[in-house]
Amino acid sequence: MENKGKFYITTPIYYPSDKLHIGHTYCTVATDVTARYKRLAGYDVMFLTGTDEHGQKIEDKAKEAGVSPQEFVDNIVEGPRGVKDLWKLMNISNDRFIRTTDDYHVEAIQRIFKKMYDNGDIYKGKYVGKYCKPCESFWTETQLKDGCCPDCGRPVVDAEEEAYFFRLSKYADRVRDLLVNTDFLQPRSRVNEMVNNFIDPGLEDLCVSRTSFTWGIPVDFDPGHVVYVWIDALFNYMTALGFENEKYNDLAEYWPADVHFVGKEIVRFHSIIWPAMLMSLDLPLPKHVFGHGWLLLDGGKMSKSKGNVVDPYILAEQFGVDALRFFLMRTFPFGSDGNFSNELLIQTINTDLANDLGNLVSRTTAMVGKYFGEALPAGCSAWAEPQDCDRELIGLASGLRDRYEEAMEAFAPHKALDEVFKVIQRANKYIDENAPWALAKDMDANGARLAHVLYNLLEATRICGILLSPFMPESMDKLFGQIGACEGCRTWDSVAVWGSRSETSPVTKGDALFPRVDVDKALAALEAAEAEAKKAALPPIELEPQLTEQVDFDTFCKSDFRVVKVKACEAVKKSEKLLKFTLDDGTGTDRQILSGIHKFYEPEDLVGKTLVAIVNLPPRKMMGQMSNGMLLSAVHTEKGEEKLNLIMLDDSIPAGAKLC
Ligand code: MSP
Repeated sequence: MENKGKFYITTPIYYPSDKLHIGHTYCTVATDVTARYKRLAGYDVMFLTGTDEHGQKIEDKAKEAGVSPQEFVDNIVEGPRGVKDLWKLMNISNDRFIRTTDDYHVEAIQRIFKKMYDNGDIYKGKYVGKYCKPCESFWTETQLKDGCCPDCGRPVVDAEEEAYFFRLSKYADRVRDLLVNTDFLQPRSRVNEMVNNFIDPGLEDLCVSRTSFTWGIPVDFDPGHVVYVWIDALFNYMTALGFENEKYNDLAEYWPADVHFVGKEIVRFHSIIWPAMLMSLDLPLPKHVFGHGWLLLDGGKMSKSKGNVVDPYILAEQFGVDALRFFLMRTFPFGSDGNFSNELLIQTINTDLANDLGNLVSRTTAMVGKYFGEALPAGCSAWAEPQDCDRELIGLASGLRDRYEEAMEAFAPHKALDEVFKVIQRANKYIDENAPWALAKDMDANGARLAHVLYNLLEATRICGILLSPFMPESMDKLFGQIGACEGCRTWDSVAVWGSRSETSPVTKGDALFPRVDVDKALAALEAAEAEAKKAALPPIELEPQLTEQVDFDTFCKSDFRVVKVKACEAVKKSEKLLKFTLDDGTGTDRQILSGIHKFYEPEDLVGKTLVAIVNLPPRKMMGQMSNGMLLSAVHTEKGEEKLNLIMLDDSIPAGAKLC
């Protein structure tokens, strides 16, 4: 087959602060499907994925877990059920895996940073602004949305420190031109978002170093500074090919990348900051960035901190890897958000895989066996006077490769699958139209027609199977075995040639490729598996021993517990521990409570929260300020460290409601 050239595709490198969830799996599966499609179509593919391992969040998480940051990320990346295990399970065919803690990458980033410093695009200044810890993003006041991070909506903190800056502003016009006048960023709707929200309001220089934590790549010419994690992360796409290092040597072959697949919240980094830095170094730009949508759960983004993540291991173990891969690509248009649910997953498996595809394969192979034994007779592929239904099926299946290719080239795997399923559905209708069981009643008169009908069905199935193989590689191998599609007729070239399958290849009815899922049983099993996984993930904790001394009921009832809403919260001056709360307790007069919980919460994170307070304790003075009551919290010890969680209630409960 003709070699069509090089194709370099990447996923975002994952942030190993927690185990990956189904949202991460979505992007990697989409990238894998595209890489497999390109290989099938004759490209020499380089598919890169990896992990982005630096930054304050990892440093904090490692501390919390009582291990070093390196140990922490090693466990999530290489450990059991970690990132690498997950990609293996999901049959991800990446050619390379980069970890940003790899020595070659670290050294390369130091050189790259120095190069931009030497060419004047990185300079030293003072950073004053806002920082979103969970996103590791700096923001200016004007970029905030209702005072919070415009990406995740969480509160930001003030940040001021000596820092290095990248002259992003210098590249504003060139980046704008790239976005507006080329097809660099896709889908097109993302261009407006970038231009209107970020470029046109004015691109400011970007802070690219930090001094407030150490878990990052050191700026080697200025001790104390570490490189901003996004600079470190974005260049992975090139260091993994050997840019500024000796580990690899594939840059000339594969750079510029053909496409970076990224989730929509990181399009800004990939379509503004990344091209600007490449422009600074006079390097070729990637050809495309594709910003896909999110998988939502109950309408919201999945996140570990919200506790609403879906574990891909559980789904793959329950339904099979291929069914899960297929579901992700079939159900959610790649550029848009989509609502994940277990019910939808089961419905897709039952409708598309068990019913449409599974039935086509099992009915066809069973009928070949029943009416002809092991194989169809020679000569069955031709039919002197094709009927309308023959012409329709053959026409639809023969033109399928072009329609599929058009969709895949437009990064629309869901549309490619739509096209394949039109043929599968047409083939199932063809069975009903020809009623092979009726033809079989008089084999002398109708045997030849019956063989031809079954040949057409095997051919349509073969063509669909090849085009489904990037989505479901293992199952399609099984399918090829059952329908007798030899190696030579599983190729890209053979997809476009109706009749490539040998007439007399043996056919075997095997096990059902996709057994029907019993909805109730499957949902119950999922629930049990999720509960089991949650239990296993709970850290060992020490609890305060329970008091044995009893309190009589009347005394207990004297304690007045009320729902309160935090109107304002600030640190008490000169106190490391105390936070001062201004609370709405439903009485119409603000209540002030001081609480020694600064170690556990930042004041701005608590504004707007609904808490519980005991309001009839005698007033107390602390650090010169009055406290009228006490906020309730849960405490325990984890790995020797004290933990505290304020009791937070549903926002719908009004201030002043009494707890009893
Ligand atoms: N480390 C950065 C990427 C650096 S690339 C130079 C990062 N990592 S991440 O682990 O937080 O996210 C990786 C990818 O997963 C992002 O593209 C993100 O959009 C995607 N997803 C995370 N949750 C998702 C969903 N719920 N749905 C779909 N994709 C989502 O960002």
